[in-house]
Amino acid sequence: MSLVRQEETTLSHDRIVAEKTRLSYESFAQEYALSIPRQVTGGMKEWLDRFVAGVPLTGAIFEVGSGTGRDATYLESMGYRVQRSEIAAPFLRSFQEQGIGALRFDVLTDDFPGRQQAVFANSVFCHMTNRQLRTALENVHEALDHGGRLGFNTKAAPVPWNSMVQNERLPGERYFSRWPPGKLRAEVERAGFTVLWCSERPAILRPTPWVNLVVRKR
Ligand SMILES: C[S@@+](CC[C@H](N)C(=O)[O-])C[C@H]1O[C@@H](n2cnc3c(N)ncnc32)[C@H](O)[C@@H]1O
Repeated sequence: MSLVRQEETTLSHDRIVAEKTRLSYESFAQEYALSIPRQVTGGMKEWLDRFVAGVPLTGAIFEVGSGTGRDATYLESMGYRVQRSEIAAPFLRSFQEQGIGALRFDVLTDDFPGRQQAVFANSVFCHMTNRQLRTALENVHEALDHGGRLGFNTKAAPVPWNSMVQNERLPGERYFSRWPPGKLRAEVERAGFTVLWCSERPAILRPTPWVNLVVRKR
C-alpha cells in the first residue's frame, strides 16, 4: 500500500469514528441523559473543584460536549460563566427549549470563538482515535491564553487499545479509546501542556478505569 493510500485509509477511519460518535448520541441522547447521575458528587466533584481551583470567578469557562449540561450547571453554581457547546442535535435542542445558550461546536473541526481561559470536556476525548485526540489537544492549546487550563478525561488501560463498546445502559455502540495514564501524560506534555492534576478515581458510573486530568498551557 502506498503512503498516500495509507494516509487516506487512516483519515477515513477518523471520519467514520467522528460520524459514528455524533450519530450515537443523536440516537440515544435521552437514554444517555437518564443513565448518568443527576448530581455532581464524589470523584466528579473532586475533579471539577480541582479544575477551577485558582481560576478567578471573573473567568469564563468553555465546555466542549456539554451533553445534559449538568457539569456546566455545577460550575455556574460556583459563580463561573459557562459557554455550553455540543455537536449532537438533541442536546442542542434541549438547551434551546430551556432557554439556555449553547453553541454547535466540534472540537475536531471548529475554531474556538475567541481566546479561552479554561476549557472543560467530560467524557468527550474518550471517543477519539489517538490522532483525533492530538487534533483536539492542539485546537484547545491554540485557543487558550498562556497559563489557561483544560480538564478532560479518557478511559485508562495498561496497554493502549481502541474499540466499539456497547454497555448495558445504552441501546447502541460507541467508540472508545483507552490510554495508559503515563502515555496520555506524555501526549499532553507533547501538545504543550503541563499536568496539574491527574486522578484515576472514578468520576461517574465507571465500571472500567478512567483517567481524569487538569492540565495547563505552557
Ligand atoms: C459521554 S457524552 C458526555 C456529555 C457530558 N459532558 C457529560 O459528561 O455528561 C460525550 C459528548 O461529547 C459530544 N462530542 C463527541 N464528539 C465531539 C466533538 N468532536 N466535539 C464536541 N463534542 C463532541 C457528544 O455529542 C456527547 O454529548
